[in-house]
Amino acid sequence: MAPPPFIIVAIDGGAASGKSSSSRTLSDRFNLLHVDTGSFYRAITAEMLRQGVRADDHRRLPPALAALRLTTRLAGRSAEMEINGRVAGDEIRSREVNEHVSHYAAVPELRAALLAYQRGLADFGRQHGFRGLVMEGRDIGSAIFPNADCRFFLHADPGERERRRAGQGLHDQIRERDRIDSSRKTSPLTCPPGATSIDTTHVSLEQVVELMAAAVAAKLIP
Ligand code: CDP
Repeated sequence: MAPPPFIIVAIDGGAASGKSSSSRTLSDRFNLLHVDTGSFYRAITAEMLRQGVRADDHRRLPPALAALRLTTRLAGRSAEMEINGRVAGDEIRSREVNEHVSHYAAVPELRAALLAYQRGLADFGRQHGFRGLVMEGRDIGSAIFPNADCRFFLHADPGERERRRAGQGLHDQIRERDRIDSSRKTSPLTCPPGATSIDTTHVSLEQVVELMAAAVAAKLIP
């Protein structure tokens, strides 16, 4: 008998659009490896800030990135990225990282390094017995897995998203990050053709998840 299919679910969207909550719920419900790619960009940003290498330092940044050893460890159902053997802590949600992450994320060498790393997580998921993976980010359905089995693009009114972030007690620069993320040359934040676009402004998380879950279930049980 053929092995069951390993499915790829891509969830993209701007800050506080509902990606994390929906992808974690799908991960639990269908035994999918959960991958939060924003945490990868944040962790590398924190590391470069620690090393004092700026996003616009075209001379020092590429070798500093090339020297990072990226590996993976499993925490529950989530893939955590280790940089030189260590998983980043709460500093990746700091005001400083919020301010800088989109500038680092616009650097093509950084995106190229993470592209290969992120694609490799499909094998990691297979090896650990998952039925698939659900990856959240900005360019998953457009650049990382353009042939994913399910591709969703979440969006919501910016005022509503700011309220959600403030409700989490976090100071964030949602509009500014969205502006930079949407206008960069390499893999900008955009709804790729063929993806299912969902406006989450007035829809409950449960409703969003049910819509996604129906599409995922259809791929798992052909
Ligand atoms: O959850 P939130 O929207 O606050 O942000 P995040 O998903 O943690 O991502 C932080 C930043 O990483 C984004 O603003 C982007 O600049 C960058 N990012 C990206 O460029 N591509 C991805 N696939 C994921 C994140």
